[in-house]
Amino acid sequence: RQSIESPLYNLILKASEFYQQSLRTHSTKKMAVDYFKQRGLTGVIARDFALGFAPPGWDNLIKHFEADDSQQKQLIDAGLVVESADTGKRYDRFRERVMFPIRDVKGRVIAFGGRVLGDDKPKYLNSPETPVFHKSEVLYGLYEVRKNNRHLDEILVLEGYMDVIALAQFGITNGVATLGTATSEEHIKKLFRLVNNILFCFDGDAAGRKAAWRALESALPHLQDGRKVRFLFLPDGDDPDSLVRKEGVDAFKARMSQQAQSLTDYFFNHLTEEAKPTSLEGKAHLASIVTPLLTKMPSGGLKALMYQKLEELTGLDQQHLLAIKPVASHVS
Ligand code: CTP
Ligand code: MN
Ligand code: MN
Ligand code: MN
Ligand code: MN
Repeated sequence: RQSIESPLYNLILKASEFYQQSLRTHSTKKMAVDYFKQRGLTGVIARDFALGFAPPGWDNLIKHFEADDSQQKQLIDAGLVVESADTGKRYDRFRERVMFPIRDVKGRVIAFGGRVLGDDKPKYLNSPETPVFHKSEVLYGLYEVRKNNRHLDEILVLEGYMDVIALAQFGITNGVATLGTATSEEHIKKLFRLVNNILFCFDGDAAGRKAAWRALESALPHLQDGRKVRFLFLPDGDDPDSLVRKEGVDAFKARMSQQAQSLTDYFFNHLTEEAKPTSLEGKAHLASIVTPLLTKMPSGGLKALMYQKLEELTGLDQQHLLAIKPVASHVS
């Protein structure tokens, strides 16, 4: 783990300033400005999130730094410059992309996501793992959430950069994103240090639904009484960004307050679809997939109530349920 004095912070900050400056002044800035406009972003929100532009060309950043060999090596360490394995040639990692700087909780820029302006692949290019960027630990937007909310009661966990930014533009300023990676227990611990309530709102597609179940599994070990986790599932094909722009912020807020499911409802709804307790076999199957999950929970009222619910569903009393040997059972 790198010390806080890592020179990379300074370098990455300077790169971020270059990308922001390019969005304002580069001769090709129009393509980026038009892109953000077409996505409905205002100049104000672009500034809040320090959005930028990596212009077309192979060496804009290298030239900007007037980098000598040792500084070029640092740019490589920072994930901003790539060295070709074949030719040894060095070139900017991010080219002709709109840039989303990723900040740590202290507000230091540690990495970037860069999006293509069109439909090319990959849609997003992210900084690689570096001494200052560990993707699986980062929650995009957390710095901004803390800065913009004096009293924080709940945090929304979303999938993407644009979801965080779009909701913030509409006044929902408590959204963070996992950047397409699975929600880890590290993420959950980080969030529960700040709030007692988490609302997951992933994309309305197969990947989003899968991400929700993964998040539930990561949350189970941290469900001390008094903490609350909810899930909001979106219509097929929508994500928070597309939906808030389509139906407006009031409708989106109504969804959050009226349609979000408690973790326990989602838990039992999902698992009783997997194993329908309509036959003795189904009840036994249900018990066999629920008990290993419940054993992950900390002791407390919620855990006891979930055992009680399982008793109601299966007719098996706690003594029998606790005797079930946790088998590795696949639930997806
Ligand atoms: N992602 C990524 N690389 C990709 C695709 C996605 O890193 N090739 C991450 C990004 O952080 C992205 C998130 O996963 O924001 C969610 O992916 P997706 O829903 O496909 O993208 P959106 O955020 O909806 O992007 P957009 O609205 O710009 O199309
Ligand atoms: Mn998606
Ligand atoms: Mn989207
Ligand atoms: Mn999406
Ligand atoms: Mn399933």
